[in-house]
Amino acid sequence: TINVGVLTAGGDTPGLNAALRGLGKSAEYRYDLQLVGFYDGFRGLLQDRCILLDESALSGILTLGGTILGTSRDKPRKMIVGGKYQDMRDAMVETYNKHHLDVLVCMGGGGTQKNAFSLMEKGLNVLTLPKTIDNDIANTDVTLGFDTALGIATDAIDRLHSTAHSHHRIIIVEVMGHNAGWLALGAGVAGGADVILIPEIPFDPDNIAQAIMERSRSGKHFSIVAVSEGAMSIHDHKHENELKEEITLAENKKEKTKAKEALEAFYAGQSGKTMRLAQDLETLTGLEARVTILGYVQRGGTPSARDRLLGSQLGGAAAALISEGVNGAMVAVKGQEMKPVPLKSVVNKLRTVPTDHIWVDTARRVGTCLGD
Ligand code: F6P
Repeated sequence: TINVGVLTAGGDTPGLNAALRGLGKSAEYRYDLQLVGFYDGFRGLLQDRCILLDESALSGILTLGGTILGTSRDKPRKMIVGGKYQDMRDAMVETYNKHHLDVLVCMGGGGTQKNAFSLMEKGLNVLTLPKTIDNDIANTDVTLGFDTALGIATDAIDRLHSTAHSHHRIIIVEVMGHNAGWLALGAGVAGGADVILIPEIPFDPDNIAQAIMERSRSGKHFSIVAVSEGAMSIHDHKHENELKEEITLAENKKEKTKAKEALEAFYAGQSGKTMRLAQDLETLTGLEARVTILGYVQRGGTPSARDRLLGSQLGGAAAALISEGVNGAMVAVKGQEMKPVPLKSVVNKLRTVPTDHIWVDTARRVGTCLGD
């Protein structure tokens, strides 16, 4: 028997339970694997809080959102224990050995890939699955949870159309995605947003106002603006780069710390920027503007059929790869196939939207303003 540990870490996404079930059921029916699940991400591994994931534990979870194991954003290398940050990897290795694990499966986003890699550096065998609604993991076509979030955000944009239309308003809808624009762009195109703002294309508020006023002149007195939470104006983007440059150029530790603090303060000041954009657009266009922040609703609830399918495929592929002795890899989606890619090729690499991506072209072709 091969002993497998599994955990889900980082922000939850719909489809995680499908992946756990896919892994566990394949382990039981097809391969000689025994599966133990750790609760709440890496914290459960540290504290050795776990459950045997046999057939009965995995029954009836395919359609459930969230993760039956719970999750957390704890990092093995830098975890708050006893009120201070500590490297807890050795303690995690102890739990791994105590259970005689042969491999640990970590389901998560970019942070989790990095955290799993840090445990690999301590000698653990790890295998990861790519999951995040942001779709920003390198070396995979798509991530688990993205499709469901895309559907939710698109549905929200659909619904906002009628109220924006009735009130002759600009409605700005803030979409998640961290520093990648996949979700805002995908939902914006699918939902027919008039303006789409993504982190990869810094925007000029004047261009947005012009596009909105043009619509107004043509008799359409409402506009929907889909803005990614990471989108920035040209002005802010330039300022961010200057601050980053200061960190690089800092000549000593004191200067570096000061420069880092300035960048952190800049990021803190970015919160509320969607409200400020609404105010700017009201001033520039003379139209009433409202903001809707979609927030966690995008991560909640029932996974789409596609994410149930993808989760089942990823979980099943993970079981197959484990039975073949594969580790140190992420199970990636490559076309119709699930293939292992070296974990190293994924870590610290953000997959943002290429500015010549087909979705960007499509948005431009249908006349969407991208703010540039
Ligand atoms: O990475 C997924 C994500 O939902 C991002 O889109 C968002 O920026 C972030 O997580 C929110 O994080 P938290 O769950 O820590 O509030």
